[in-house]
Amino acid sequence: MFQMPTKYVFGKDSHKGIGELVKPYADKVLLVYGGGSIKRNGLYDDVIASLKAQGVDYMELSGVQANPRYEKVLEGIELVKKENLQLVLAVGGGSVIDTAKAIAMCIGSGDVWACFSAGAKLEAALPVATILTIPAAGSEVSPDAVISYKGRKLGFSSQKIRPVVSVVNPDIFKTLPKNQIANGVCDMMSHIFERYFTQTQHTDLIDSLAEATLKTIMRNALLLMRNPADYEAWTEVSLAGSVAHNGFLGCGRVQDWGCHAMEHELSAQDEKVAHGAGLAVLTPAWMRYVYSENPKMFYQFAVNVMDIKPDRDEEKVILAGIDKLAAFFKSLGQPNSLQELGFSLNAPLEKMAKKCSGEGFVGNFKPLYWKDVLSIYKACL
Ligand code: NZQ
Ligand code: ZN
Repeated sequence: MFQMPTKYVFGKDSHKGIGELVKPYADKVLLVYGGGSIKRNGLYDDVIASLKAQGVDYMELSGVQANPRYEKVLEGIELVKKENLQLVLAVGGGSVIDTAKAIAMCIGSGDVWACFSAGAKLEAALPVATILTIPAAGSEVSPDAVISYKGRKLGFSSQKIRPVVSVVNPDIFKTLPKNQIANGVCDMMSHIFERYFTQTQHTDLIDSLAEATLKTIMRNALLLMRNPADYEAWTEVSLAGSVAHNGFLGCGRVQDWGCHAMEHELSAQDEKVAHGAGLAVLTPAWMRYVYSENPKMFYQFAVNVMDIKPDRDEEKVILAGIDKLAAFFKSLGQPNSLQELGFSLNAPLEKMAKKCSGEGFVGNFKPLYWKDVLSIYKACL
C-alpha cells in the first residue's frame, strides 16, 4: 500500500505561503524550531509575517537540538494543552520535525513515550506542517519520528503523524555548512539503500528509480561541495531527499533498515554523533559484511550506480563499487571510522550491539544478531 497524503509545496519563496497553507487546519499553532539558524537566515521573519497576514496566532518552542530529546517534547505538549493549539508547525530539519510530530501525538496517547518504547497505540494526532531547512532525514514526507530519552534513541511510525503540509524551498539550503550538506546526503542515500538492497525478486522498476535517485544525489552533492549556493543543484538534491523517504522506493520489496538501527545506537551512545555521519561510517562496513547473501544486487549497484566496469569477476566488481562509495563519502568530508566519529577503542561496543539487536535481529537482507552487529562495529574501528 502506498499512500502519501502530504501536500508537498516546492519552489523558490514557497515558504512565504505557509500562513495560507495552515489556515484551513488551525487559528492557533505551535511554531517549533531549533538553535537559531532560522533567525540568522531570515526565515523566521518570513514565517511570522505569513502567519500574521492570515490571522494565524502562534506560540513558540525553540531550542530543539540535533538528536532531539523527549524533554523538549514534554515542554511542547504542555504548551499545546495550556494554549489549546491546533497544529504543530516545524521549521527546521529532521530533529525539529520529529519533535513536532511527537508533540502532535499528545492528543492520541496518554503517554507519548510509551508509543516509542513499547509500541503503544496512537489513536489520533494534531496535524503537523513543516518548512524544511535541511534536506536529509526525509521527515517532511515520512510517517516516522525518532526521539532520544534516557540513553535510548527510538523511532515510532504512524500515518497519523505524516505531515499534512510540507514546504520545500531549495533557496533556503544555501546557508547550510558543508558538514551538514554531507550529513544530509549520506542520510538520504541510506534511505534508498535500506530499501534497494533486498532479497525480493523482480523489482526492476523500483530498482531503476532508486538507482536514478542515487545518481542524481551523488552528482549534485559534488556540485554543492564546490558551491553550497548552487540553487539548481539544491532543487535536485532536496527533491531526491523527499523521494528517497516518502515510501515509494520501498514498494513491493522487503526492506532492510539494519544500518539505521545500528546508527541510532551510535547516536544514543553519543548525542554529538550526527545521524548522517554515523551512516557514512557504517554503510560500507555493512555492505562488505552482507553482500555475499545476494551478490547479484551488489553487482547491479556497482555497475549501475557506481559506474564500475562490468567484469566476469563478480566479487572484484562488487568490492570496487563499495570502495568507490566509501571514497565518495570521504570526498564529502565524512569520517570513515568510529574513532573519527569520536569513539575510543574502549567504547562499549558489545553493550551497544546487544541494545541494538536485543534478543532478536535487525535488518532483513541478512538478519543481524548482536554478534553480527558487534562484528560490523568492530570493522569500523
Ligand atoms: O538548530 P539549528 O540552529 O536550526 O541548526 C541545525 C542543526 O544544528 C542546522 N540547520 C538546519 N537547517 C539549517 C541549519 N544550519 C544552517 N542553515 C540551515 N538552513 O543543522 C543541524 C542539524 O539539524 P537536524 O534537524 O538534526 O538534521 P537532520 O535533518 O539531519 O535530522 C536528523 C535527525 O532526524 C532523524 C535522525 O535520527 C536525527 O535525529 N531521522 C528522522 C527520520 C524520520 N523522521 O523519518 C528518518 C531518518 O532516518 C532519521 O533517523
Ligand atoms: Zn536516516
